[in-house]
Amino acid sequence: MSTDEDFMLKMNGSLQDPYPFYAELRKHSPIVYSKTLETFFVGRYETCNMILKEKKFGHTSYDSEALTPIYDRYIKEYGDKHPKMKRKSLLFLNPPDHTRIRNLVSRSFTPRSIEQLRPFIEKLSEDLLRRNGGNEIDLITDFAAPLPAYVIAKLMGVPESDMPMFKILSDKFAKLLDPISSDDEVYHGYIAKGELGKYFNELIEKKKRDPMDDLLSGMVRDVEGGYNITVEELLTLCSLLLVAGHETTTNLIGNGFYALMKNRDQMEMLVEDRSLIKNAIEEMLRYDPPVQMVERVPMMDDVSIEGQVVPKNKPVAVMVGSANRDEAIFNEPDKFDITRKDIKHLSFSEGIHYCLGAPLARFEGAIAFNKILDHMKGVKMIEEPKYRGNFNIRGLEHLKISYDAFPA
Ligand code: HEM
Repeated sequence: MSTDEDFMLKMNGSLQDPYPFYAELRKHSPIVYSKTLETFFVGRYETCNMILKEKKFGHTSYDSEALTPIYDRYIKEYGDKHPKMKRKSLLFLNPPDHTRIRNLVSRSFTPRSIEQLRPFIEKLSEDLLRRNGGNEIDLITDFAAPLPAYVIAKLMGVPESDMPMFKILSDKFAKLLDPISSDDEVYHGYIAKGELGKYFNELIEKKKRDPMDDLLSGMVRDVEGGYNITVEELLTLCSLLLVAGHETTTNLIGNGFYALMKNRDQMEMLVEDRSLIKNAIEEMLRYDPPVQMVERVPMMDDVSIEGQVVPKNKPVAVMVGSANRDEAIFNEPDKFDITRKDIKHLSFSEGIHYCLGAPLARFEGAIAFNKILDHMKGVKMIEEPKYRGNFNIRGLEHLKISYDAFPA
């Protein structure tokens, strides 16, 4: 990786398998600057972990200089038909606003609210697996994509009939989180974000009139009781919860099952001993994480990382997919081993932005894998799958498999 061109070439050529690129990144230097992306990249575990936990690093507003022309194009062409939501997403906020908004969700998003979803997730998993009959399935399209969408909808109190529309908007919205999205994709991401805001505006009014036992009703109740949050912030929060829980969990199931397919001894071990499911999910998250990188900037001053000065507000891409394979931390990091001990992966990030949905993702993942393994014997891959064109949110387009038996 001697030049920037070389770096870009390797990164762009690594979509299907980024791990050799990461290994080179870790070996080359603790920190690498890409002129083209105007971003520093860090890939070693200790450096990534330090940046995520260190208070000096945070976020600038989302309309950084690089994005402003695209956002302006959106406003110009789309008008202000939709609530403007930039700058307010929890993911991109710093304290004290971050703390205030995060606390509102934490009050209603409790272990009890997750456990209550068990019968729903179990039944939905069964229904999705049985829906198309036969002995073939596309595990992504038929199972892993719809499952989390319906679960988060149920948790929040979104009617199930609206979910197909959400899936489309969520796919477009996710492009905003990818550093290699085209201008056009970013533009359509903003439109999708606006559409989601409009929808939730109406749903919040419904919850005010007719509150139920769901996350959105809980938050609306707190807001009605005087919790300090603006309508704009609440709308952005709703969209984030919906989107953050969709594609990431889809990819946990997809990437995780693909890893099992490629490592049949691990699959067999898991079929035989379901008590390994919890640990297997941690290993899946480490081995091929749904989110490959997160971004931070030095907020107050220039900061030195491993002897390299990073100017204030310059983005640093924290490559969690690389950190999870760091040979300094993990023994035989490229080996998929569901019995691995003490798997301290960074796939849910670290520090104040640690994934709010991690307990739900783990819970849902465990039910999903149990159901899949219960139902499918003699699983075979019909064709070698491909990863979608999103470097950051990593997941398969399809995972077409066949199986021998489907118990009644
Ligand atoms: C396997 C599935 C998931 C993965 C891999 C994942 C990953 C992540 C990561 C890496 C972050 C931190 C980003 C950063 O540090 O900048 C994050 C934050 C977040 N996640 Fe997840 N996530 C998953 C599932 C979910 C689910 C199911 C939900 C919601 C129901 C959710 C809601 C959130 C929220 C709200 C944040 C923002 C937290 C904050 O900024 O304080 N996630 N997630």
